[in-house]
Amino acid sequence: MNEIVTAMKKIKSRNEIPGFLSRWNLNDTIAEVGVQFGYNMESLLRCDPRLAIAVDRWNNQKEQSVCDDIYLGVVRRFMNRQNVRIIRATSTQAAKLMPKGSLDFVYIDAQHSYHPCLKDITVWWPLVRQGGIIAGHDYINVEVNGKTYGVIKAVKEFMTTTKIDSEMLHHTEYGARTWMLYKVGYE
Ligand SMILES: C[S@@+](CC[C@H](N)C(=O)[O-])C[C@H]1O[C@@H](n2cnc3c(N)ncnc32)[C@H](O)[C@@H]1O
Repeated sequence: MNEIVTAMKKIKSRNEIPGFLSRWNLNDTIAEVGVQFGYNMESLLRCDPRLAIAVDRWNNQKEQSVCDDIYLGVVRRFMNRQNVRIIRATSTQAAKLMPKGSLDFVYIDAQHSYHPCLKDITVWWPLVRQGGIIAGHDYINVEVNGKTYGVIKAVKEFMTTTKIDSEMLHHTEYGARTWMLYKVGYE
């Protein structure tokens, strides 16, 4: 196992991710898919990336004005950060804007049901560089408002289909666990 994977497997909470990214030079270009208020993006910025891409559609609340306010809050939150690029688009639309192999790290935290989550992983994986990491939130089996979280199933299904060694996967221990998948090859 290479030393980055060994270090990745010691991560216990997502708060440790920014330090890990800067320690292992995985902080040139990072992205988060599903930014909402920007709390996790704010945390990720501690890795001091050259470029951080913040993707969210900001249109999934009942009231569009509520979404617009959340979006404007994120614009204000990051307006003095020259390295943050905000993209208001769906995950799939935003992925089409990125060159393949251009990301060191992407954090998926948009929809948590099986099919949308699998789609997000599938469209963002090619954008991660060799030696980069795709990760995401809520690696848990729970049901919220009648909807079952399908993140674990989606990650495992993706790994089976693409024949990724299970040793390349890590998840944190506590709470709404984060999963992390190291990319060995160019696929
Ligand atoms: C759980 S919140 C993200 C929380 C954030 N990552 C954090 O930890 O601070 C999920 C967000 O994903 C966004 N979202 C859901 N589906 C999406 C999609 N298909 N494309 C883009 N954004 C999406 C929602 O608008 C919402 O703001």
